[in-house]
Amino acid sequence: MASARAPCLLLALLSCLVASGFPGHLSRPLGKRSLPEMVVDGIEIYSTKIHCRVTSRFAHNTVTTRATNRADTAKEVSFDVELPKTAFITNFTLTIDGVTYPGNIKEKEVAQKQYDKAVSQGKTAGLVKASGRKLEKFTVSVNVAAGSKVTFELTYEELLKRHKGKYEMYLKVRPKQLVKHFEITADIFEPQGISSLDAQASFITNDLLASALTKSFSGKKGHVSFKPSVDQQRSCPTCTDSLLDGDFTITYDVNRESPANVQIVNGYFVHFFAPDGLPVVPKNVVFVIDVSGSMYYQKLKQTKEALFKILEDMKENDYLNFILFASKVRVWKDHLIQATPENIQEAKTFVSNIAAEDTTNINDGLMRGINMLKKAREEHQVPERSTSIVILLTDGIANEGVSRPEDIQANARNAIGGKFPLYSLGFGDNVDYNFLEKLALENNGFARRIYEASDATLQLQDFYEEVANPLLTGVEVEYPQNAILDLTQSTYKHYYDGSEIVVAGKLADKDMSHFKADVKGHGALNDLSFTEELDAEEMEKARQDQEYIFGDYIERLWAYLTIEQLLDKRKKAQGEEKENLTAQALDLSLKYHFVTPLTSMVVTKPEDNEEQTAIADKPGDGSPFSQNTPSSSATWVSYQPPPQTSYYYVDGDPHFIIQVPEKDDALCFNIDEDPGTVLRLIHDPVTGLTVHGEIIGDKVASADSKTRNTYFGKLGIANDYLDVQIEVTPEKINLRNGEAQSTFSWLDTVTVTQNGMTMAINRKKNIVLSFGDGVTFVVVLHQVWKKHPVHRDFLGFYVVDSHRMSAQTHGLLGQFFHPLDFEVSDIRPGLDPSKPVATMVVKNHRLKVTRGSQKDYRRDASVGVKVACWFVHNNGEGLLDGDLRDYIVPALF
Ligand SMILES: *[C@@H]1O[C@H](CO)[C@@H](O)[C@H](O)[C@H]1NC(C)=O
Ligand SMILES: *[C@@H]1O[C@H](CO)[C@@H](O)[C@H](O)[C@H]1NC(C)=O
Repeated sequence: MASARAPCLLLALLSCLVASGFPGHLSRPLGKRSLPEMVVDGIEIYSTKIHCRVTSRFAHNTVTTRATNRADTAKEVSFDVELPKTAFITNFTLTIDGVTYPGNIKEKEVAQKQYDKAVSQGKTAGLVKASGRKLEKFTVSVNVAAGSKVTFELTYEELLKRHKGKYEMYLKVRPKQLVKHFEITADIFEPQGISSLDAQASFITNDLLASALTKSFSGKKGHVSFKPSVDQQRSCPTCTDSLLDGDFTITYDVNRESPANVQIVNGYFVHFFAPDGLPVVPKNVVFVIDVSGSMYYQKLKQTKEALFKILEDMKENDYLNFILFASKVRVWKDHLIQATPENIQEAKTFVSNIAAEDTTNINDGLMRGINMLKKAREEHQVPERSTSIVILLTDGIANEGVSRPEDIQANARNAIGGKFPLYSLGFGDNVDYNFLEKLALENNGFARRIYEASDATLQLQDFYEEVANPLLTGVEVEYPQNAILDLTQSTYKHYYDGSEIVVAGKLADKDMSHFKADVKGHGALNDLSFTEELDAEEMEKARQDQEYIFGDYIERLWAYLTIEQLLDKRKKAQGEEKENLTAQALDLSLKYHFVTPLTSMVVTKPEDNEEQTAIADKPGDGSPFSQNTPSSSATWVSYQPPPQTSYYYVDGDPHFIIQVPEKDDALCFNIDEDPGTVLRLIHDPVTGLTVHGEIIGDKVASADSKTRNTYFGKLGIANDYLDVQIEVTPEKINLRNGEAQSTFSWLDTVTVTQNGMTMAINRKKNIVLSFGDGVTFVVVLHQVWKKHPVHRDFLGFYVVDSHRMSAQTHGLLGQFFHPLDFEVSDIRPGLDPSKPVATMVVKNHRLKVTRGSQKDYRRDASVGVKVACWFVHNNGEGLLDGDLRDYIVPALF
C-alpha cells in the first residue's frame, strides 16, 4: 500500500502495575554463575531474543526477554521494545516463576475503564510515546520478588512494503546492559524466490563484531542471524556497557520473472503486482508551496535545496509549475511549462528568489494549482499520455481566506473530482496533520510528515523520488465475478517504480481449482493488461509449498490489509459511515487479535489481593503528536503530565513557578499588582498563541499591599491563527471560534475538538486545553465556600506542555519556555531557620533568593502538592526580562 498509514500513531502503554516501594540503586549479592557486570541494579537480563519470520512479505516478530532478580528485595524490571508504527501488536505475555499471564484483546473503551480505575486508585500509570520517525515504543515494568524470574514476550506483525525496489524490516536494538544470550534471527520464505538479501546494523564498527552476523539466501529461503557474545557486546574490551544501540535493518527483494504473483492458502489469496522496467509515464507536477512567514528561514532554505535537486531530476517530457502562497497567491508561470534544460534553469532562478511573506492562504494556493492542471489537460497543453499530480507543502495552519479545514477539503475534492492525486507534506510540528491527511486521502494521495531537522532536504527529496516515476496510471485489478469475496483495495491511481500493489481476498469456493487475475493500466506508450492464471496443477503445487509456511499467514495478511484500509477510510468518513467502518475494523481487530487504534491488550496479574493490569494501546487518529485524539487523551494529561519535561504555572496569590528539569529544581516569584490589572503570561508570534490574566482582589480590600491577597480571576487564551478566543472565569467558559460563540459552565463535563484544538472541561475541577499536541494548558478552578466573608473563587493556570511553542515566545511564563540556566551558591540560614537563603546567578544577575515552597493544585484544587523552589523577591526582579510594566496589557484580548 503506497497510501499513507500515517507515520502518526502513538503507542501508549498504560502500565498500571504497582511500582512503589523499591529501594534505590544498591549493590546486591550475586548468584554464582553470572559475571558481576551482568547484573545491573540487582537485575540480570540473561536472554534477549528477537525472532522474525517473514512469509510473503508478512512479518511475524517475537521479542522475548528473560530476567532474574538477583537482589534480596523485590525489584522493578522493565521491558522496552520499539516497533514500527505500521505494525500491530498481536500478543503480549508475562511469565513470572513459571506462571504465564496472557494478554487479552479488548475494545479500547473497556480497557480504558480498567486504566481509569487503576488511576483513581492511585496506581502509577506510564504513557509511552512515538519514538522517532518510524517507531513507537512499548514499555512495561513489573514488580518481581527477590530471586524470581520473569519472561516478557511480545509479538507483532506487519506487512513489509516495497520501497525503492526493496522490502525493509527495521529492528531497534537497545539492551541497556550486557546480555548473556543475545540473538536476532530472521527466517524469510518467499515463494517467488529471493533475489537479494542484506542485513546491516548501525552500530557494527569492527570485524570482530561483523563476525557475529551471518546472512544467506538460496531459492525461496533467506536467513539472517546476529549473535554477539558477551565480549563482542562490550563497547570496549574492558567496558561493561553495551555497544548494541541502534538500528538493525534487513532488506531484501524477490525474483521478478513475472510482474505478478498469486498465492493461495486455506481459501484466502494474495496477489502481488510489481511490473518494474516499464517506461516512465511523463508527469505534470504543480508544486503548491507555503511561503508564509513561519517558513522563514531554515524551512524555506531546505525547501529550496530540495526543489533544486528535484528540478535536476525532472525528465525532459515532464511539465511543471510553482504556486506560492502566503496571504496572496503568486505563480511562476500562468500555465504549465515543459522541463526543458532552459526552462529548468529559469525555474532554478525563480526558486532561488523565493522569499517568505505573511499569513497562510492554503485554499487559494491549492485551488489555483488544481485548476491549472485541469486546464492544461482540457486545452491539450500537456501530452495525452501523461499524468498529473499536485504536491502541497505547508508548515502551518490556514489562517487567511477560506480557513475552515472542512471547506478547503470540500473545495479540493470537488475541483479534483478524482482525476489526479494530491500529496500533502506537513513541514514541522505546527501543521494540522489530520487535515493534511484527510485532504490527501480524499484525493488518492497520501500525506507525509517532514520533520524539522537538518535532513529535511533529504526527506523532501525522498518523498519526491517515491512519486517521481509512475509506470502505470489508472491501475485496476480484476477477478472473475462471484469467485472472490471481501477484496481489499483493487484500484490505484498510480503504480510507482520500485513499489508494489498488494490485493488480498477470500475465495468464494475454498477448493477452487483454477484462479485468474487481470491487471489493467495505462502505460507511457500504450494501455497494458497483465493476466495471471493458476491451473489445477499449480494450485496443487502452491498447496504443497505450505509446509514451509506458518499457519494462516495469508488470512492474517488479508486481515491486516483490510483493517489498515478501513482505518484509512475511517479517517475521512463521517456520521453513520464512520460508525460502520469503525464497527468493521473493531470486529476484525478483535477477531484477529490485533492492537489497533480501536483495541487494547490487557494483561492482568493478581498479586497481594490487588490486580496489576498492563495495557498495550495504540491511540488512533492523528499525528505522532496525537493531535485531535478524542477526549481520553486530553483527560490523561491532567493526571499524568509528561515526565522529565519542564512545566510552568501560576496559582494562588499570583505565585509563579518555573520548573527547571535540568537542575531538578524550581524557581518562583510573586507578582503584586492592583485588581483590574491584566498581565501578559504568554505570547508567541509564531504559533499565534496568547494568554492574558486579569487580577482580582478579595471581597474586602486590604489597605496594605503587603497583606492583601490577589488572584487571577479571568484568563483570556487566544489563538490568532485559528481565530479562537477562550475566556475563563470561575463562573463560566466562553469559547469564540470565528463568528461562533459558545458558553459552558463549570458544571459541564465536555470535550470540544475543532481545528486541531481540544478543550476538555472536567466538571468543577479543571480545563485541559491542547493546541495540536505539544501545547497543553490546564486551568484549575479554586472554589471557596460560597458565603466566605473575604475570599473569592479564582483560577490557576498551568503550562504542562510547551515544546511546540516557538523560541520567540515571551510573557511572564512564556519567557521561561527556553532552556534556563542558573547557579545557586552560598546557601546560608535565613531569618526564618526553615527558609535558608542563597545567592543565585541567573540571566547575568546576582540575586539573593530564599528557599520556599508553593503548591501544585493540578490533581486536586483543595489539597495541593508541595513544590520546593527558590523564591526571587521584588516581583521577580532580575529573573524577569525587562520591567514589570512591560507585561501589563490593556485588555484580556
Ligand atoms: C500468546 O503467546 C503465548 C505465549 O507464547 C501463547 O501461549 C499464546 O497462545 C499466544 N496467544 C495467541 C492468541 O497467539
Ligand atoms: C451502515 O451499516 C448498516 C447495516 O449494515 C447499513 O444498513 C447502512 O446502509 C450502512 N451505512 C452506511 C452509511 O454505510
